[in-house]
Amino acid sequence: MQLFINHFQSISSTNDLAISMANNGAPEGTVVVAREQTAGRGRRGKSWTSPPGSGLYLSIVLRPDRPASELWQLAFVVSAASAEAISQISDLQASIKWPNDILLNEKKICGILIEARSGKHNQQMHKAVNPPVIAGIGINVNTELFPQEIASKATSIYLETGRKSELEKVEHILLDAVQSRYSEYLCEGFTSILKLWKSMDCTSGRRLTVLTPEGHVEGRAIDVDAGGDLIIEKADGTTLSVTTGEVFFNR
Ligand code: BTN
Repeated sequence: MQLFINHFQSISSTNDLAISMANNGAPEGTVVVAREQTAGRGRRGKSWTSPPGSGLYLSIVLRPDRPASELWQLAFVVSAASAEAISQISDLQASIKWPNDILLNEKKICGILIEARSGKHNQQMHKAVNPPVIAGIGINVNTELFPQEIASKATSIYLETGRKSELEKVEHILLDAVQSRYSEYLCEGFTSILKLWKSMDCTSGRRLTVLTPEGHVEGRAIDVDAGGDLIIEKADGTTLSVTTGEVFFNR
């Protein structure tokens, strides 16, 4: 995948701009990077605090030649690549909390927002290309202090290592990792990505609560299956597989 990188000083959200560029025909490999986001978005409608200079905020347009039913796999591709990049930059072992939160020392250091929005306009105008999927990645790089609400759960490369990093260098290492894992995914398939993902997974074996669209599920994570579902063993010994949700580890 060839990259077409667009840098901005301050924009609302790199995902929003990448979606609009993709809907106007931007090719796979289009990247939007911003020094600051004024309306950075997280999963489940949350905001992603994005002050200037302290984090890396970027979004990549992907157009995999895969059926819509397999696009969830990209969360595993992008989270595995991001965890590898963060480990390389920090010299510490980053881990992944299902499905795609990156942690360092049990605290969140990177969030990923994958959005597949195929607008009507996009379908009519660009039938020749695969529909776009936007992979938005936010890494806490040089953050010194987090807002009080997230301070106990969030960290940055700086807070974990005591070293400030150049954002350009972090961007370069991250994009390299995404490019190489994405091509591995396209050439070799999901199995090899899932194996890599599992080598960095910190979810299996943990007692947790998962907030799913249907409500809370409590139990112990026992595995992530070949379909990407989290398998949970409940207190009564029954197992349940969860397709989407946010995991909270129980103490
Ligand atoms: C999450 O963990 O809730 C996902 C956070 C994703 C944040 C990134 S920052 C770059 C891109 N642009 C956005 O508006 N969000 C993503």
